[in-house]
Amino acid sequence: MTTGDSQTRTIEICPSILPADFSRLGEELQMLELAGADRIHWDVMDGNFVPNLSVGPDIVFSCREKVSIPFEAHLMVKDPDLLAPLYIKAGCDLIMIHVESTLHLDRSLNEIIKLGAKAGVTLNPATPIENVEHVLHLVDQVLIMSVNPGFGGQKYLESQEVKIQKVCSWITDRGLEVDVEIDGGISSTTISQATSAGANVFVAGSAIFQHPDGPATAITELRETALSAQ
Ligand code: DX5
Ligand code: ZN
Repeated sequence: MTTGDSQTRTIEICPSILPADFSRLGEELQMLELAGADRIHWDVMDGNFVPNLSVGPDIVFSCREKVSIPFEAHLMVKDPDLLAPLYIKAGCDLIMIHVESTLHLDRSLNEIIKLGAKAGVTLNPATPIENVEHVLHLVDQVLIMSVNPGFGGQKYLESQEVKIQKVCSWITDRGLEVDVEIDGGISSTTISQATSAGANVFVAGSAIFQHPDGPATAITELRETALSAQ
């Protein structure tokens, strides 16, 4: 649940599935739920839009009943209009599509909403934030990439913080209820500056799966650091 003011939006921590052990994905998701994850972030890659290939809708469907927390799908795909319905059917609550992957963003987002899912929009580091200004009224979330999509474990791009600030000002000025999510290189260090810029939802892969004290400690640390920076 979010409010228009970026300072009071609920902080949410969303582990990416990319670093998980895919041979026991269901158990990994149960571990993340127990560790305090707010949502599961499914990084969907088709080997076209990004130079990597990840999970299909059947894998998402097979994990749906394993946990009760929401599923969000980050569609890094060439044809989101074709694939979005499949991930909704598989049990995703929120579908995020890249502005760079569709000619008719407004229509693509409306199709997701018509199917009963929440819609989100995401943009690559080189894409101006102005690309989402005229669909803000349609979406539940704006996802700003702080790495070039395709892989986990990359360095956080500070340059993206101005986009967070800009979109938060539009959201606040218009009294909209839109989450601002950031994805890529989020750690207990970078989450502070991303929160200060106005983000309230954070994707993390390596910072959670590679934490020496385990995912629960990682998620707690990320949440507490963000809360103190809000
Ligand atoms: C990259 C994905 C991110 C990535 C995050 O294309 O969208 O979600 O997996 O991984 P870390 O947190 O390791 O940067
Ligand atoms: Zn992602």
